[in-house]
Amino acid sequence: MNKTLTAATFAALISGQAHAGNVEVLHYWTSGGEAAALAILQKMMKDEGHSWTDFAVAGGGGETAMTVLKSRAISGNPPSASMIAGPEIAQWGDLGVLAKLDEVATSEGWDALLPKAVADIHKYQGSYVAAPVNVHRINWMWMNKSILDQVNGGQVPQSWDEFFAFMDKAKQAGFIAFAHGGQDWQDATVFEQVALGVGGDDWYRQAFVELDKQALSSDTMTQAFATFKKLKSYMDPGMPGRDWNLTTAMVIDGKAAVQIMGDWAKGEFAAAGKQPGKDYVCATVPGTQNAFNFNVDAFMMFAQKSKEAQAAQQDLSRLLVSKEFQEEFNLKKGSIPVRPDVSLARYDSCAKQSMSDFQASAKSGSLVPSFAHAMAMEPAVSGAVYDVVTNFFNDNDMTADAATSRLVSAIELAQ
Ligand code: GAL
Repeated sequence: MNKTLTAATFAALISGQAHAGNVEVLHYWTSGGEAAALAILQKMMKDEGHSWTDFAVAGGGGETAMTVLKSRAISGNPPSASMIAGPEIAQWGDLGVLAKLDEVATSEGWDALLPKAVADIHKYQGSYVAAPVNVHRINWMWMNKSILDQVNGGQVPQSWDEFFAFMDKAKQAGFIAFAHGGQDWQDATVFEQVALGVGGDDWYRQAFVELDKQALSSDTMTQAFATFKKLKSYMDPGMPGRDWNLTTAMVIDGKAAVQIMGDWAKGEFAAAGKQPGKDYVCATVPGTQNAFNFNVDAFMMFAQKSKEAQAAQQDLSRLLVSKEFQEEFNLKKGSIPVRPDVSLARYDSCAKQSMSDFQASAKSGSLVPSFAHAMAMEPAVSGAVYDVVTNFFNDNDMTADAATSRLVSAIELAQ
């Protein structure tokens, strides 16, 4: 055997290349802002000497991505890592296919860094099996500032009456008043914020987290469905099937007055070089001022055979929760860091408001998990809710009362 180290091998050993491995990552971050954020992770992995196989599955909200992931796993060929969120992580844990991340979590001190409620979502039987990367706030309105100034004197609507008055004025002025993309996950996302605003966080938790039948079948639910349907008359004919980021672009370009969407939309404004307070205004959806509807994106790791693949996967997990990645990634993603010790000095006013509201909501108990974004229900139940909401939205003859009773029976059947 050649005992002398070749120069290349020696160099590789020094730079750690000897452990250089590959990660194949399944994700659905394909919009401008999402891709810019993900590029930071791809570069950091490359700088550590690993290679990155990108397995992007387009489709906002990740429904398609999760379907593809299941087919990959069933065929015994899962990627190294996949985007995931919420209770579904435990379902993957039940299958015994995930890699444990406790070595990284311990050496990086995740338990001391992450809020316990966040940490627990990403563990299975006490071991970390997923690395959380952010906190997205979903009960946001994104308003084009020049339209808001022109038609509403710059006044941010605080109630649903004020909101619909703003919609009327924007429509009369010739703008698309409400920008929406007619896809089931977007319908569910908007409905969820309207329901939170109409019913408040206690009722929201009873209805959509505890699946309490009284809350689900209440007049409040009917009022939420009615308020949601009222938005339809302020949308444009191009709404059906439109992707969320193309909808955000309508607000960015001054064609539409407002979009209700999670703050991944802020990543699109950032990618377009737009500033909050100058080009657009972020504000909480009416009635949700004191609540924080959230989801946490994470990457779960599938058990790997080779040492190199395991090393690459461990490095990926470490980077995802690292301070450096958290600061750079969330700046572009529109979310806030999942660890509270990251400086927000470089973040904008919307992110700073999000962080202070997140901490206040966690303290006051008005922090609610998003069912539209996989944080509150088993997938079968949230899928049933998606169907009821979208069918009601698309069926001009279906009454809000009918939607409420369909919701109750659909959830009962899905449990
Ligand atoms: C959410 C996800 C965000 C963003 C959004 C649009 O479910 O948490 O990171 O990707 O979908 O695709």
